Amino acid sequence: MSSRSIRIGLCGFGVVGQGVFDHLNKKRKALGALLGADMSVTRIAVREKGKKRDVAVDEGIITSDPISIATDPEIDIVCELMGGTNTAREVTVAALKAGKIVVTANKALLCDHGKELLSIAQQYGGHVLFEASVAGGIPVIKAIREGLVINDFSSIYGILNGTCNYILTRMANEGLSYQEILVEAKELGYAEADESLDVDGIDAAHKAVVLAYLAHGKWVDFKNVRLQGIKEVSQEDILFAKDNGYAVKLIAVVNRERGGKALHVSVLPTLVERRSSLGSVDGVFNAVSIHGDVVGETVYIGPGAGRHATASAVISDIVDAAKLLIFGGPEGRFPFLDSAPKNGGGIDIARPDEIHSRYYVRLVVMDQPGVMAEIASILASHKVSLASVTQKEVPEKAERASLIITTHLTTEEAILRAVADLEGLTILEEKPFCMPIGTIS
Ligand SMILES: NC(=O)c1ccc[n+]([C@@H]2O[C@H](COP(=O)([O-])OP(=O)(O)OC[C@H]3O[C@@H](n4cnc5c(N)ncnc54)[C@H](OP(=O)(O)O)[C@@H]3O)[C@@H](O)[C@H]2O)c1
Repeated sequence: MSSRSIRIGLCGFGVVGQGVFDHLNKKRKALGALLGADMSVTRIAVREKGKKRDVAVDEGIITSDPISIATDPEIDIVCELMGGTNTAREVTVAALKAGKIVVTANKALLCDHGKELLSIAQQYGGHVLFEASVAGGIPVIKAIREGLVINDFSSIYGILNGTCNYILTRMANEGLSYQEILVEAKELGYAEADESLDVDGIDAAHKAVVLAYLAHGKWVDFKNVRLQGIKEVSQEDILFAKDNGYAVKLIAVVNRERGGKALHVSVLPTLVERRSSLGSVDGVFNAVSIHGDVVGETVYIGPGAGRHATASAVISDIVDAAKLLIFGGPEGRFPFLDSAPKNGGGIDIARPDEIHSRYYVRLVVMDQPGVMAEIASILASHKVSLASVTQKEVPEKAERASLIITTHLTTEEAILRAVADLEGLTILEEKPFCMPIGTIS
């Protein structure tokens, strides 16, 4: 085998960590031949040392002190696969300060501390690589950073959370409610015991922040991401979508507005045309549609999570890290680190009056004369123009009616204000539900 050794420390040995360990071991010979160096995991950190693991490992290499791996002079590449943002940050900072390359799958860590971590990496001549942090096994970060490097990105649309896509797909296919599917998704392991990170859109928003950085060089503050999860999506919305050639998807958007000078990042349930690139992506799959000024639209679809898919992405970073160690000196490293930022410094966050879309609004109202006139008058007062109105009786309560409205193109500011005013109407029986109608090609 090869003469040079690359030693990897895994901080975290759960779903992803064990996948990385297992696949690295299985392909050790092939990777060794590819790189001319032997790669092996020589240390592993966990929280609970005695825990039963799915893959066999020499107990002697396991520690409960991840910082000791981050600072170990014998370790070349540190993989942060623990999750969370506290210890994960400490480990990453310690490893970077020790001049190591850090590979992480942790989108929450990047969203909260990415700017700091990349700056420390730059200062100490290291790297933070994070292919697995967005869209799991799909090499979308490599695509943006390398394959599409010549492009400016006018828009990126993504289905970035497999759990939400799985729930929405089953709601559409089986006519069941969000709650019914969620219970089953938990039993099958597609949703976490605490599902909120997924279904409230937080996980997808972390990933959208990472994509925005890669495409535009700007770390968008999480509080500037407009965010709504899928809990309020009902069978009525799904049926409307089906009847009108759409699907309801949780869509992350990273768009340039104001002639390219402002950035809009959001994660919202969205009506997308069923035959569009993202409209037909079902189940636990993730998909990303990227519009570059040179290439046009490219679309990436694949498994967005899970042991094997995520390990595939982590190992691609480990191999890149090994190549940097073997072939690149300090000069070779810098462009790799800094290839993302374009002109992030000069970009603002788009204001709601700069974000344009058509919208879908579902209202449950008392079925009585004059209701439509009141609603139309509120929409008109915000210059929101109606495209269609569909009324259905709510079967179990005949005195209620469900009104589904679609609008012509308007601004986010106008629709949010209109919906807030509609919420104040006494004829309204439930909180309105509103989502954009996406124009993904
Ligand atoms: N799972 C996926 O499909 C997926 C996909 C993409 C990205 N990711 C990201 O990958 C990362 C890992 O996810 P995962 O699903 O593998 O998580 P996981 O199964 O919960 O594993 C976490 C591992 O980290 C260890 N750990 C946690 N805190 C620690 C601490 N303070 N000190 C030492 N060890 C600690 C745990 O030890 P014990 O085993 O002893 O508890 C466990 O081995 C997360 O950032 C996640 O967002 C996951």
